[in-house]
Amino acid sequence: MRDFTRGVVLCALLGSVYASCPPRCECSEAAHTVKCVSKDLRSVPAGIPAYTRNLFITGNQIRRIGPESFKGLDNVTNLSLSNNRISEVESHAFSGLLRLRSLDLSNNQLAVIHPEAFTVLNQSLRELNLSRALYNHSSVMDLASSLRWSSLGNLRVLDLSHNSLIYLPSRIFSHLSGLRRLQLANNSLVALHNASLSGLELLEELDLTLNALKTFPEEGLRELDSVPRASLLLGENPFTCTCGIEPFALWLNASQARVEDADGLLCDFPASMRNTSVLAAGALTLGCHQRDAGADLALQTSYVFLGIVLGFIGLIFLFVLYLNRKGIKKRVYDLRDACREVWEGYHYRIEIDSDPRLSQVTTSADV
Ligand SMILES: *[C@@H]1O[C@H](CO)[C@@H](O)[C@H](O)[C@H]1NC(C)=O
Ligand SMILES: *[C@@H]1O[C@H](CO)[C@@H](O)[C@H](O)[C@H]1NC(C)=O
Ligand SMILES: *[C@@H]1O[C@H](CO)[C@@H](O)[C@H](O)[C@H]1NC(C)=O
Ligand SMILES: *[C@@H]1O[C@H](CO)[C@@H](O)[C@H](O)[C@H]1NC(C)=O
Ligand SMILES: *[C@@H]1O[C@H](CO)[C@@H](O)[C@H](O)[C@H]1NC(C)=O
Ligand SMILES: *[C@@H]1O[C@H](CO)[C@@H](O)[C@H](O)[C@H]1NC(C)=O
Ligand SMILES: *[C@@H]1O[C@H](CO)[C@@H](O)[C@H](O)[C@H]1NC(C)=O
Ligand SMILES: *[C@@H]1O[C@H](CO)[C@@H](O)[C@H](O)[C@H]1NC(C)=O
Ligand SMILES: *[C@@H]1O[C@H](CO)[C@@H](O)[C@H](O)[C@H]1NC(C)=O
Repeated sequence: MRDFTRGVVLCALLGSVYASCPPRCECSEAAHTVKCVSKDLRSVPAGIPAYTRNLFITGNQIRRIGPESFKGLDNVTNLSLSNNRISEVESHAFSGLLRLRSLDLSNNQLAVIHPEAFTVLNQSLRELNLSRALYNHSSVMDLASSLRWSSLGNLRVLDLSHNSLIYLPSRIFSHLSGLRRLQLANNSLVALHNASLSGLELLEELDLTLNALKTFPEEGLRELDSVPRASLLLGENPFTCTCGIEPFALWLNASQARVEDADGLLCDFPASMRNTSVLAAGALTLGCHQRDAGADLALQTSYVFLGIVLGFIGLIFLFVLYLNRKGIKKRVYDLRDACREVWEGYHYRIEIDSDPRLSQVTTSADV
């Protein structure tokens, strides 16, 4: 009975929509493609043909996606909803799309993401694009629970670039055990804490460029080592090249094969080290442990600065001497004359002393 009703519904759908195309959309049956691009649509249009495999509803004003949005579209494999104003994705919004492989929600304003927002019954989803899709960092908790509850074990590619993420909640990706590529470029991540990359054993590419990472302490290095197969991109981060960078610089030197842009990682602070490569800074800081523990590169550079200041003071002293050269000359002459008088007096005494007659006179006079 249920099969029969389903059949009737399917036939009705096929009959009613095969030849038609929703208003303001372009449909190509031969290419199995429907496009509704930049048409000011406020919601997903009704009447999308069942033959559709590639569905583009981009550049519109859609604000919400619910479980009723996509019905009877069993064959859709690629869905793009990029450049809309979607702020809410409800539970099971896409679960009618049994063969969905690629979902693009980039350039939206997701503020509310329900825990099973990305559930596709068949676990068929391979690629999820959430680039510039989150309204702000506050959405990250919703995101974390939806990545956990949406059964995304077959997901291969996740793009979370350009999202103002400040940190990654612990175990946010732990249910994405099939993930190969993770894009986190252009966020505001300041650290990789314990377990932020746990569960990604198969990861092949991790992009962390353009974040706010100043260094990777032991904790962060452990995370990077927890994705041993992944090639890494770490450039355009404000690395701080004080002693604290040392573990990272050593790790980097040993991991150059994995870090694709290892040569291009530059210090941003202190100012004296700006644009020095982190690898080179690592070689410089190796002395950190021999001096007292607090000593760092900034201290070394402050010694240089002190030397320059002392040299400058010396120069000023010489210059003052030069300006006073006349007075000094006079003094020197005076001094010389005085010396000469003393010397002559002394000489005279010696002459007297060495003349036996005179000495006799003086000694007898003394007596
Ligand atoms: C969906 O695709 C299958 C083959 O992949 C095809 O047999 C079927 O007719 C398609 N469904 C519709 C409604 O076009
Ligand atoms: C589940 O997905 C596979 C492809 O990944 C597809 O061949 C199969 O038909 C899907 N099952 C259903 C019930 O749609
Ligand atoms: C559909 O998505 C896949 C990735 O899952 C991609 O390789 C392919 O080019 C996409 N097709 C279209 C028409 O966008
Ligand atoms: C996600 O979408 C953005 C723009 O909409 C695009 O530049 C980027 O390449 C996409 N990511 C992936 C992994 O395809
Ligand atoms: C995100 O936006 C909401 C609503 O405007 C606001 O209440 C919240 O404080 C924002 N969070 C961050 C981290 O900016
Ligand atoms: C980084 O993301 C912000 C928005 O979050 C955007 O304005 C900026 O252009 C992006 N930068 C790059 C280099 O893509
Ligand atoms: C991270 O894990 C290490 C040991 O695995 C532990 O010593 C450290 O306290 C943890 N840090 C945090 C912030 O939980
Ligand atoms: C560092 O390099 C950037 C770009 O190459 C340049 O604009 C900047 O002036 C450099 N800063 C210093 C202190 O050399
Ligand atoms: C960097 O690694 C090379 C071997 O790959 C080693 O010879 C060299 O000593 C290392 N440099 C530092 C500063 O550890």
